[in-house]
Amino acid sequence: MDTYDVVIIGGGPGGYVAAIRAAQLGLSVACIDAFTRDGKPSLGGTCLNIGCIPSKALLDSSEKFEMINHEAAEHGILVEGAKIDLGRMLGRKASVVDKLTGGVAYLFKKNKVRSYHGLGKLLRQDEGQWVVGVEGSESSELRAKNVIVATGSSPRALALAPFGGNIVENSGALEFSAVPQKLGVIGAGVIGVELGSVWRRLGASVTVLEALPGFLMSADPAVAKEALKQFQKQGLDFHFSVGITAVQDDGHKVHVSYQEGGQTVSAEYDKLIVSVGRLPHTAGLGAEAVGLDLDERGFVKIDSHYHTNLPNVYAIGDVVGGAMLAHKAEDEGVAVAEILAGQSGHVNYDVIPWVIYTSPEIAWAGLTEAAAKEKGLTVRSGQFPFSANGRALGHNDTRGFVKVIADAATDRVIGVHMVGPNVSELIAEAVVLMEFGGSAEDLGRIVHAHPTLSEAVKEAAMGVSKMAIHM
Ligand code: FAD
Ligand code: NAI
Repeated sequence: MDTYDVVIIGGGPGGYVAAIRAAQLGLSVACIDAFTRDGKPSLGGTCLNIGCIPSKALLDSSEKFEMINHEAAEHGILVEGAKIDLGRMLGRKASVVDKLTGGVAYLFKKNKVRSYHGLGKLLRQDEGQWVVGVEGSESSELRAKNVIVATGSSPRALALAPFGGNIVENSGALEFSAVPQKLGVIGAGVIGVELGSVWRRLGASVTVLEALPGFLMSADPAVAKEALKQFQKQGLDFHFSVGITAVQDDGHKVHVSYQEGGQTVSAEYDKLIVSVGRLPHTAGLGAEAVGLDLDERGFVKIDSHYHTNLPNVYAIGDVVGGAMLAHKAEDEGVAVAEILAGQSGHVNYDVIPWVIYTSPEIAWAGLTEAAAKEKGLTVRSGQFPFSANGRALGHNDTRGFVKVIADAATDRVIGVHMVGPNVSELIAEAVVLMEFGGSAEDLGRIVHAHPTLSEAVKEAAMGVSKMAIHM
């Protein structure tokens, strides 16, 4: 039986990054992953195979189509008869996924991480080490001084609308063989708006049914309001405070009944995406048999050093809860590997960026004004619209704004919220500033290249002390 310093169960962004960093730090490492794509093992987990990467590939392709059809003419570029070759679009997406998942396999070889394909299971402790089973085509057992559980999450299903046929979760929604004429989406969260946008741009009529009374209720309210206005303008049809009462797939159409404003509404869709959040994935791990503590929602319980209740068993990523984001999982992977190597890895959970890759994009990090007030802080904020930014005008995309929130007592920046062009990239500067405890004045005095969208960030920071130049 092979013995490793660390055996990692799960090869997504949490697990594969932990494996590479642990190996870089001189530990012997094995990573067990069960993911299969087109019948073959495929490292990278949800993110690379059926999440972040393929969704962004389709968002990019569909945005180019939208640009050609609706914006090119304004730039004086006349294109007639642009058409979709969906097979080719999906093929390009698959090749992006292949490159990246193959890249993880390459990095494992380069760093001497031993890769096992199959279901990893905590079996028992033996003389202070863990025996971990690999249930795959060739089942085996490994010995581990330490185990990292990084088994990720799975889509939450609704009892009324189990997945199958025309009712799909994220992976199905990335693989429609034809553009649905009418697409229903249950859940106006991140997946709902990203994948709803993809299919709307490709020609679907998209209706989004949301249980809550408002849109993106944890985001800055002004950002959420602006984004909703833009999405509605594009044709996404949102319904809030909706209670789904029945869903039936007759194999041809999906019939959905819901309560809205005291009325019962019936609708039918060619496809229905159910995107109502994700649940921790611990099936097959052997958690119950070895006594691994889970919380009431099924997340693996950990302390501040990612240690579970079991000796030398750690857990990271979606399976431990918190923000279900790839970069959060990755940074936890680095931190836990460093802890196992005797270093003091940690993650600053106060400054985790959120990005929604719609058009306009939405991005934020740190506190909203409401959350800051709840913490007893007095805040000042500055806001700058892209309509007053030269580069945005050149792009022909002046939607949205940047808002910088600072502690009124110290001027320290505690939150930055954006909606607009390329804000997925602009947020990085705000994260760096907040990580280093910078003030709004610092940000406003840093030289920013002209003309760039980043000048909107600088101006919003100057706006905190009412000193913005261009408004
Ligand atoms: P996962 O990526 O879920 O990886 C877990 C791996 O463990 C999987 O390969 C699974 O098969 C394997 N596994 C599970 N149990 C076992 C077992 N017992 N034995 C062996 N292997 C096992 N996040 C972002 O930050 N940005 C985005 O743009 C973004 N877009 C997304 C789009 C979609 C459609 C979805 C669904 C998610 C998106 N996410 C995004 C979220 C992101 O994918 C997750 O936060 C991230 O993948 C979590 O990483 P992880 O390593 O914890 O788990
Ligand atoms: P989500 O939590 O973002 O949104 C789910 C939405 O469904 C919520 O608005 C919720 O109120 C609503 N909902 C729940 N039950 C409902 C019901 N019965 N009827 C109607 N609405 C209901 O979850 P989503 O979109 O499934 O995404 C899961 C996670 O994946 C995200 O929270 C995020 O962590 C990650 N993700 C991240 C992305 C990014 O970073 N750009 C992109 C996609 C996913």
